Formats: sequence, structure tokens, C-alpha cells
Amino acid sequence: MLCVEHWREADKVSHVSDRFLVSGGARLHGEVSVGGAKNSVLKLMAASLLAEGTTTLTNSPEIADVPLMADVLRGLGAVVEIDGETVTIEAPAEPKYHADFDAVKQFRASVCVLGPLMARCRRAVVALPGGDAIGSRPLDMHQAGLRALGAHSSIEHGCVVAEADALVGAPIALEFPSVGATENILMAAVLAEGETVIDNAAREPEIVDLCVMLQQMGARIEGAGTSTLTVTGVERLHPTTHRVVGDRIVGATWGIAAVMTRGDVTVNGVNPHHLQLVLNKLVDTGARVETHPNGFRVSHDRRPTAVNVSTLPFPGFPTDLQPMAIGWASIAEGMSVITENVFEARFRFVEEMVRLGADARTDGHHAVIRGIERLSSAPVWCSDIRAGAGLVLAGLVADGVTEVHDVEHIDRGYPHFVENLRSLGGEIERVTG
Ligand code: UD1
Repeated sequence: MLCVEHWREADKVSHVSDRFLVSGGARLHGEVSVGGAKNSVLKLMAASLLAEGTTTLTNSPEIADVPLMADVLRGLGAVVEIDGETVTIEAPAEPKYHADFDAVKQFRASVCVLGPLMARCRRAVVALPGGDAIGSRPLDMHQAGLRALGAHSSIEHGCVVAEADALVGAPIALEFPSVGATENILMAAVLAEGETVIDNAAREPEIVDLCVMLQQMGARIEGAGTSTLTVTGVERLHPTTHRVVGDRIVGATWGIAAVMTRGDVTVNGVNPHHLQLVLNKLVDTGARVETHPNGFRVSHDRRPTAVNVSTLPFPGFPTDLQPMAIGWASIAEGMSVITENVFEARFRFVEEMVRLGADARTDGHHAVIRGIERLSSAPVWCSDIRAGAGLVLAGLVADGVTEVHDVEHIDRGYPHFVENLRSLGGEIERVTG
């Protein structure tokens, strides 16, 4: 019943939205530094619950989701402090097992407290998360994994409820290399009895980052970065200090912006190996790409050439960069086919691109885009973080001033977005309310 009451309360909260005014025409140039990955830090914060005491995360990105996750953890009994790019989390001896519903409903990554709570408390009640409008996001694989470890799990009154007398290691084969399911099962398995083997595990760099931190905490994990993770449960973990891996999605966004605006941008703070396929695609558009150990430089001096893109789990082309790929395809020379294989509704934002004049149509998993020389400004609406960033990039190559509404989505994943874009010569202004 508790869940239902909280959701009703949330409905009463009114929503005021900010917008960006983006002027088209500037060629981006200069250097930009990228912070820690959103898709890593939120999981690392949840993982800190696994060990009583103070865990410190450095290189944390200053994005809206970090304080939201801090609130989730506070609701579970942790003391959390955020000081710029440093987050300290003092996890309690006995965490509460009810995740705070008001915070949980606001963002998808909150569901990653499920694994740590099962590991520490053997029970968890977590409201079904909110998050991006990119399609149905069930938790069946998370639940199946916990059941394999010996838990009962059901959905009750809008919450995932899980309980176990004991967690016992088991072989678990995932139907799909789900990032979230891999993480939750991993975090439950590190304190289970015996050995868990996760087959068809996700291999994203953020999962490797989580494995590295868990290993520093004393967990026994083999196979990080491969599709088979072998976890031997230990009795307890200890807190640690860890630097969050650089955000490859943010880094690639700036690289793609360079391609679209015929600019020259150097991105620091990202491992270029995490973007191998994306950088290869940029080369296919005619861009010059140079890599260095901590980043890369992308430059382009003419209209990009059309290239086909198909999203897949890592090391494939990231679904989170699909909106940006549609952006570059919309002004490329030739026709591109963009195929979305991960989220069923991620093409919703293409309607907004059409408002900007893109010659794009979608059919199921495919979008066919005939590039045109220039887009034309219009009011557009962000439906999620990445679609929002994609629309801003499109605004940079549209005639006139594009109004991008609901930019709070962008705040959830891109730290200092306006400042960074301006530092590269982009013309953008934020209008509040
Ligand atoms: C994470 C990322 C998101 C990224 C996505 C794929 C975070 C906070 N978010 O999301 O930015 O786009 O990985 O790289 O890290 N699925 C099921 N059942 C499940 C779990 C997933 O059917 O139990 C499906 C999803 O609906 C989706 C696909 O599997 O179609 C991939 O989802 P998943 O890899 O789990 O993505 P998230 O962890 O939610």
C-alpha cells in the first residue's frame, strides 16, 4: 500500500521546465574534458552499500542523478556527502531494505540498489523505477537472476519485492546481455555462498568499472569485460576509494558535434578503446580521428558522408548514441539506415528531428534518413537524456534559433553542458521556467 500512496503524492507535483536556445552555424573547436560516467557512478554508489563504512568516489560527474541516488541511499540509512566531483558514502551496519519511493521513481538506475540490498539484508522492496521514455524496461532478468540465487521475487503494488533465507551461488544464463541485470546479479552474488557464473553478461566499460571497485572491496570476480563473469562469494567486503571511469557517451557526443559542425574538437578524460566502433564510424563519415591514451581528437571540414549504424550491446555501437547518429545522418551526403536493436521506442525522438526538417522515416527497428544540407530551426521537446543532446546537436546545424524544451533531461547526464558547449564556440543559452 505504501507504494501506491507515494505514487499518488508524486502526481500532485507540478513540472516547470527550462529550455535551451541554440543558434545554428558555429563550427565547434577546442578542447573539452569529460568527467566520470553517469552509468557507472550510480551503480558504484549503490555498491558502496555492500560494505559497512566509508567509501569514496572521485571523478564523479556533477549531474542531477547523483544527488537523486544520494537521497535513495540516505533513505536506506547511509550518510552521503557530495563535494563537487567527490562523493563519500558511509554505509550503515544494517541498511534498511525499503528503497525511498519518492527518489526511486525518478530515475532508472535506482533499481541497482536491489542487488546490494539482497546481499546485505536478504530482502528488498524497491519501487519500479521511472526514467527515460525509450521503451518498455522490464526487470524480469533481474528477478530471474535473484531467483536462481535462491530468492523469491514478485512485483507487488508497483514495487519489486525480493526475499531469501540465504543467497547461494548458481549458474545464470542471461537471455540478453542486460547491463542492469548483470550489475544487480553481480552485486547480489559477491556476498552469496559459493560460486555464481553469469553467462551472456554485459561487457560495457561501466560493468568493468563496477567489477574493479568490487574487487578493491575484497570481492572475488573473474572475467570482467568478458561475457562470462565468475563470482566466488565472500563473507564480507570492506569500503574503498575508487575513481569513476570516464563517460564515453558524453565524450562521443562532443566528437559527433565536431563532425556535424565541421569542427575540430579534442576530448579528454575518456579511454578511446571504449569508443572504438564509434570512432571508426566517424572515420567512415570522412572525419579525421586521432586517439591518445586519455582521449581523442575529431575534425571534419566538409559535409559528413552517410553511414549505416546498428546499435548493439558493447562493444557494438551504443544505443545511447543513436540519437546523435540520426543527427549526423540527417545532414550527411547520401542515405543512412540506422537500426535500433536495444530499446523498442527509442525512435520516438525522430518526430522532433522531422520538425527540424530532417528527411527521416521509421519502420519498426529501422530509420531511413536522406541527408539534407541544412536543418531549419523549430521548437522541439526532449524525451530523454540522449535524445535531448541529439536535438541540441541538430540545433547547431539548423538555420536560426532552435528552442529545445524540457532540458532537465540533459541535466541528468551531461555535467556543465551549456558551459562546455560554449567553450567550444557553440551558441546556446538557458532560459529558466
Ligand atoms: C543501461 C543504461 C542505458 C543504456 C542501456 C543499454 C544505466 C543507468 N542505463 O540501461 O543508458 O542505454 O544500459 O546499454 O546504466 N531488458 C529486459 N528485461 C530485463 C532487463 C532488460 O527485457 O530484466 C531489456 C530492456 O528492455 C532493453 C534491453 O534489455 O530492451 C537492454 O536493457 P539493459 O541493458 O538492461 O539497460 P539498462 O540497464 O536499463
